[in-house]
Amino acid sequence: MTRYSIAAIPGDGIGPEVMEAVVHVLEALSDAQGGVCFDFVELQAGDGAKAETGMALPPGTLGAVERSDACLFAAVGETAKEVILPLRQGLDLYVNLRPAKVYPNVPHARGDVDLVIVRENTEGLYTRIGGRGPDWGVSLRVITRRGSERIARFAFDLAEREGRRRVTCVHKANVLDATCGLFVEACRDVAAEHPGIEYEEMIVDACAMRLILEPERFDVVLTTNMFGDILSDEAAGLIGGLGMAPSGNIGEGHAIFEPVHGTAPDIAGEGVANPMAMILSARMMLEWLEEREAAAALEEAVVEVLREGKTLTPDLGGSSGTGEGAASVSRRLAQKEF
Ligand code: NAI
Ligand code: MG
Repeated sequence: MTRYSIAAIPGDGIGPEVMEAVVHVLEALSDAQGGVCFDFVELQAGDGAKAETGMALPPGTLGAVERSDACLFAAVGETAKEVILPLRQGLDLYVNLRPAKVYPNVPHARGDVDLVIVRENTEGLYTRIGGRGPDWGVSLRVITRRGSERIARFAFDLAEREGRRRVTCVHKANVLDATCGLFVEACRDVAAEHPGIEYEEMIVDACAMRLILEPERFDVVLTTNMFGDILSDEAAGLIGGLGMAPSGNIGEGHAIFEPVHGTAPDIAGEGVANPMAMILSARMMLEWLEEREAAAALEEAVVEVLREGKTLTPDLGGSSGTGEGAASVSRRLAQKEF
């Protein structure tokens, strides 16, 4: 039996609700599968932690995440920039991997979407270098060759590993020639090392439109930090909304898996948040831990529950709560033969 120590950061708003759901599901998975089990180490961070201790990311949290085998992160509120950005940058989690795929029975814009956004996660406009005075603000956009090459390598390796055909480099080099210019140059160099994968370039504003009009033409979208942030919420809108969008922040040896959504203050406390984005983030974590059988079983259980359609949350047109959705996934897992 492989035992994993999982750092769990529930955070604020619907964060603790979806975290409870995923812990329930992973415990059911370990009961059913027998080959894996999890020790959860709960860590405080976010608006609540700041109100209590004065610090959104208490000292020790980063070290605890570093010592864990992997981390599950739900969502934090207004302090997001003080929590998730230092975690991503502090652990050098340079990949933000955001798949967007249509699952059965989910109200969606188009049926044939199965793309993955590979977003650079440590540079760009999110380094928070800059400043402001009363009448001005400056945010410095930092792009390096090393940062661009390693994210491009990850995108092409992923395309090869997953049998994907095409990598689309999304940029704004026509205007941001210094930063996006360098990014595109690095992507071209890496593309030349992978002649088996089709490579194309697209300007970000055109990409935003084409994602709506012809999402099926996209396969791997390779882009910089802020463009990836925006395009991934857009992609989530194509596949049933933020309640269905998982992600992984991945580096060398460390990774944090989190739903794309935030704390959803409009529904927090009502127990109706869709747990699937968090559960599918746990599936990505299992893949990363190379627990492929467990990852596949978890995704299968999610698909079965969605297809059955009896315990869908309101965002998917149902009337069930977060806990009922998670309990259905757990029940399906319990019936599986490993
Ligand atoms: P949001 O993602 O929290 O919510 C946007 C919309 O999607 C809302 O209508 C919400 O009800 C819905 N939604 C989100 N997750 C859902 C789920 N699991 N099930 C059903 N519906 C869901 O984004 P918003 O409202 O812009 O931000 C709220 C707070 O979250 C802000 O304080 C922001 O800073 C924080 N945030 C934190 C992130 C993180 O922790 N990584 C990421 C994005 C936002
Ligand atoms: Mg975002």
